[in-house]
Amino acid sequence: MMTWFSGLWGMGATPAIEAATLRDAPRLAELHGASFHRGWGESEFENMMRERNTLVHRLRLGRKIIGFAVSRMAADEAEILSIAIDAAHRGRGLSRELLLTHLGHLAGRGARAIFLEVEEQNEPARRLYEWAGFGVVGRRERYYQQANGEQLNALLMRRDLS
Ligand SMILES: CC(C)(COP(=O)(O)OP(=O)(O)OC[C@H]1O[C@@H](n2cnc3c(N)ncnc32)[C@H](O)[C@@H]1OP(=O)(O)O)[C@@H](O)C(=O)NCCC(=O)NCCS
Repeated sequence: MMTWFSGLWGMGATPAIEAATLRDAPRLAELHGASFHRGWGESEFENMMRERNTLVHRLRLGRKIIGFAVSRMAADEAEILSIAIDAAHRGRGLSRELLLTHLGHLAGRGARAIFLEVEEQNEPARRLYEWAGFGVVGRRERYYQQANGEQLNALLMRRDLS
């Protein structure tokens, strides 16, 4: 896995996946706002990072943070609340290692079942989650409200960790 991942970047900077810190909040909010219709602000990221049951990882390339993953745990279950990659770095498989590392940390903290919601037509996200072993366990009609009033369906996905 590491060979494949490092190979993407040749002699350039190798992506690093690390626990996010409070100082990352402005950049994480910027990335979130650029990726989602309802962006989370800096204070939302700060609050989540202060919560013991919330896990926030950053994906760093050199000095720049280019992605993140956020989950919340409850007992032995966890929900992936958000994952995003900077638009300039999408389509290179970078989210895979981010997601796998994030799942590994959730497993290490005792999570046995991971859930998430994804917009039905979000092909890159669905392919990522299917690649990572998630399966569709439910569908919510007209769950997301777009800025233009359009209502989109959500799929509920689950993966069990052994
Ligand atoms: C979802 C996201 C994190 C994936 O990150 P990424 O590093 O670009 O992912 P990958 O490069 O591994 O691409 C994921 C898959 O989508 C495919 N894909 C990429 N762009 C696509 C497109 N426009 N249409 C269809 N499939 C696409 C890729 O080919 C890949 O599939 P494969 O592994 O079967 O080849 C990223 O697209 C993103 O940040 N999107 C905005 C935020 C978001 O929607 N997050 C998920 C919320 S549930």
